[in-house]
Amino acid sequence: MHGQNPEIIQSASSLAIFDMTGNLPPPVPHVFESEYRWAMQEVLNRDDLASLFASHSFNGTERDRAAGAEFVSRRLTEAPDPDQIVITSSTQVALLSLILGIVGVGGRLVVDHVTYPSIGQFASFFGYEVIPLPIDAEGMEPEAFRDACRTHSPKAVYSTPTLQNPTTGIMSLERRQEIANIAREYGVTIIEDDIYSLLPTDQPPPLSAFAPEISWYVLGTTKGVAAGLKTCYVVAPSAQEAKARFWPGVRATYWMCAPANVTAVTRLIESGRIEQIISAVRDETRKRQAMVAEFLAGTGFRAKREGLHVWLPLPARVAGRRFVKELELLGTRIAPGELYAVGDAAPPNGVRFGTGKPASVDDLRMRVEQIRATYEQLMGDR
Ligand SMILES: Cc1ncc(COP(=O)(O)O)c(C=O)c1O
Repeated sequence: MHGQNPEIIQSASSLAIFDMTGNLPPPVPHVFESEYRWAMQEVLNRDDLASLFASHSFNGTERDRAAGAEFVSRRLTEAPDPDQIVITSSTQVALLSLILGIVGVGGRLVVDHVTYPSIGQFASFFGYEVIPLPIDAEGMEPEAFRDACRTHSPKAVYSTPTLQNPTTGIMSLERRQEIANIAREYGVTIIEDDIYSLLPTDQPPPLSAFAPEISWYVLGTTKGVAAGLKTCYVVAPSAQEAKARFWPGVRATYWMCAPANVTAVTRLIESGRIEQIISAVRDETRKRQAMVAEFLAGTGFRAKREGLHVWLPLPARVAGRRFVKELELLGTRIAPGELYAVGDAAPPNGVRFGTGKPASVDDLRMRVEQIRATYEQLMGDR
């Protein structure tokens, strides 16, 4: 670096590397702005603002929990009692609180061998053990799960049965029943992250619907509404367990929701306006995935038309990391498969990218063309 102008280095390094590693919902300002502004105005118009902000909100108010129960009933076959609902400030913190409370230090958590990366990272920070299991096109394999229950006596299983991360699998109804039955047979708690379920219109009920008495069902708004909305609804197996896990015991965490935001989300749910936003995100996601399907045809990519990410498997001779490096030379960053690998499991060779970050379908097309060009170039290299 000696002798080089730091400004030039800075501008070269920040020069147009466009990060598509995250799986964000696409922006829908034409709908989101008017709906969220309306909801915030409803909050500001209240005549009890001081008391709304006077203390921690913990699980939200009774009205917030009732709205949460209504929101999750779109997925659960039976609407939960509002007292089973815990409202948190993100899915991530809900999962962390649950894993720490249920699995704990030294306990074992069964996961897909590739999964939401934070689950593996938290294991090393907080001292629980992850047991990574093989997956097929649908997700976790039942026989592997049964074996793991027998040999490792896990406390819980973490699963994203709709739109596995990163491989995009969606578990069939039969698979969900099987996994839920095995969990029940071995007394393993289900921690179900249904965060990608707001967009698909055709999918089986969650695992939790098949074993509600042992399930913690988690439905966050980050992926189906807006990345910054954060509000997340957790359904506990019972009202008593909701209280015991989150309040009054868990003070030393940051799971509590912020009153202004959760009140606005409550109004969006009560008024039905949240559906306008979800539907706009879904339409935009479909457009984006249709374009991706056209440009990546013949590559063996995996995606769902209402999914936010795309998985591109690669042959062994084209390492995912090399693909990522080559693509960065064109100014676009995506993620190698290793990022999602848990424990000592061999990572799958491939790359993942999110479709939501570019501002428009045209902007995304330009990035996908680069991905296709990199694919052709590396597949041609011998
Ligand atoms: C599977 C999964 N769960 C949870 C999260 C985090 O959600 P939140 O922003 O609500 O913490 C993500 C975000 O990338 C995710 O992919």
